[in-house]
Amino acid sequence: MHVDPLEKKWVYISIAMVVFFTAILTFYAIVANVNPPSNVETVDSVGLHLTDEFAEEKLGVKKNDDGSYTVTVVAARYGFFPQRIEVPAKTPVTFRLASADVLHGVHVPFTNMATMLVPGYVSQVTTSFPKPGEYSLFCNEYCGLGHDHMWSRLIVTPSS
Ligand code: CUA
Repeated sequence: MHVDPLEKKWVYISIAMVVFFTAILTFYAIVANVNPPSNVETVDSVGLHLTDEFAEEKLGVKKNDDGSYTVTVVAARYGFFPQRIEVPAKTPVTFRLASADVLHGVHVPFTNMATMLVPGYVSQVTTSFPKPGEYSLFCNEYCGLGHDHMWSRLIVTPSS
């Protein structure tokens, strides 16, 4: 079989790129512990309001016995519920979020709080906010005409 030398060269380059990218991924997975989210937890999106955790009256901020906080949020076209979240600075906060309808995202600019909200799954992020202030919690996955108006207020109070 005849293979044009130029084509052969590009076959080698393609293979080298695949090997190179796989090596980078493996390196960061092992050295920097960069991995896909490990919390795989399913939930019935349609019946969120009937669940123990994501019913309307259960949403919001809860203080745990160890001093950390858990924030339960439902995302639905077009808003995050609750609309106002208040947590102290420099304290571990675990967000547990679920979408009631379509794919949404959540993103708090100037912090490392960001995740996708895939219908049917619970998204969980643990972080802490070093600086007190008022932040906005935005949707960053296009979810329909009201996408631009989908946000909540996040207030980080000085820790006592
Ligand atoms: Cu929700 Cu965009």
